[in-house]
Amino acid sequence: MSLPLLLFCLLPAAFSAASPPLLPEYYAKSCPNAELIVRYVMTKAMIREPRSGASVMRLQFHDCFVNGCDGSLLLDDTPTMLGEKLSLSNINSLRSYEVIDEIKEALETACPHTVSCADIVIMAARDAVLLSGGPNWDVKLGRKDSLTASQKDSDDIMPSPRANASMLIDLFARFNLSVKDLVALSGSHSIGKGRCFSIVFRLYSQLGPGQPDPSIEPKFREKLDQLCPLGGDGNVTGGLDFTPQVFDNQYFKDLVNGHGFLNSDESLFTYVKTRPYVRRYSEDESEFFRDFVEGMIKLGDLQSGRPGEIRRNCRVVNGRGRRPVDVVGGGLKDRKIFGYER
Ligand code: HEM
Ligand SMILES: *[C@@H]1O[C@H](CO)[C@@H](O)[C@H](O)[C@H]1NC(C)=O
Ligand SMILES: *[C@@H]1O[C@H](CO)[C@@H](O)[C@H](O)[C@H]1NC(C)=O
Ligand SMILES: *[C@@H]1O[C@H](CO)[C@@H](O)[C@H](O)[C@H]1NC(C)=O
Repeated sequence: MSLPLLLFCLLPAAFSAASPPLLPEYYAKSCPNAELIVRYVMTKAMIREPRSGASVMRLQFHDCFVNGCDGSLLLDDTPTMLGEKLSLSNINSLRSYEVIDEIKEALETACPHTVSCADIVIMAARDAVLLSGGPNWDVKLGRKDSLTASQKDSDDIMPSPRANASMLIDLFARFNLSVKDLVALSGSHSIGKGRCFSIVFRLYSQLGPGQPDPSIEPKFREKLDQLCPLGGDGNVTGGLDFTPQVFDNQYFKDLVNGHGFLNSDESLFTYVKTRPYVRRYSEDESEFFRDFVEGMIKLGDLQSGRPGEIRRNCRVVNGRGRRPVDVVGGGLKDRKIFGYER
């Protein structure tokens, strides 16, 4: 290979740190109703199933932590690519991908090939919080969709529900997210549900066989033991806080009372470096809202710097002349292909 050609090939890597800046008004000319359309579809989805708000909001975390907010999470597996949907943290757990599909379909009708799936996740997560009673904020837009996804990258980075606060501090620091960001963003667990699968270890084995996590308040542990008996159905779910449809600071009040659902939740109160934030947020909901918004914006700023595209269907890359119906095939139950062959 000639030297100029070699340099040319290396160029994208050299620019990897400098992704184009994200802007709130990115679609103001090209798709002025984009945010209205997202909010409309999210509203419909949450009337149909209130939990879909939580499930969609969680997608932002799982997308942005794996090679930046690039919609890589949304790609279905193909014969040649294991994507993120079946990774350890995501399989049988992430849900409501079909809501993203529905938003994409509406946006492709209004403004074909304009709004990225990565941006849809960011707008929909914001709307989910707002429509659950939480704060509102301006989102920055202009992300591109990835050309690939990696199950391994997701396995390597996404935290386990067994993680403790000190492990999570280290993990979040890798993304320049502070201790405050960690605690505030964990407040996302103010809405939604978790599975017994995620807590049987802390209920029955945390300190050895038959030894529960001592930080669970005893009455609450009895309730969890009933919900999730040893050897029971791991797919049974419980609320992540006592008001799982309302975005509020109940989650932090619960942690103070030993009523955290996940080990990663309760350990934010037992660990000395995170406890002051938990206490403050339990007493001051507006401070929680402010710090949560700051955290979501930082989370949304994570970018891979890799080349991307505007996908027409969030589940597949825009292969030239390829029909995604042939490319995907087998696999996830909620798969829905639409509006692609027009
Ligand atoms: C700090 C580290 C975190 C850990 C260890 C963690 C772990 C988990 C686990 C284990 C579940 C339940 C999954 C299941 O049992 O199937 C869950 C649910 C959820 N997580 Fe997290 N999470 C973390 C941070 C976040 C962040 C930063 C967000 C969003 C910004 C988030 C949003 C959610 C939501 C909304 C749900 C409920 C989803 C639903 O009901 O479908 N989590 N998380
Ligand atoms: C957190 O977990 C790690 C790994 O299991 C362990 O080494 C560490 O001592 C724990 N930290 C706290 C504060 O419990
Ligand atoms: C964290 O900040 C440092 C210093 O500003 C920067 O070099 C690095 O790229 C950032 N890392 C991430 C994941 O944003
Ligand atoms: C939960 O349900 C899924 C799909 O029906 C099944 O494959 C999985 O094994 C179940 N998981 C647990 C922990 O029971």
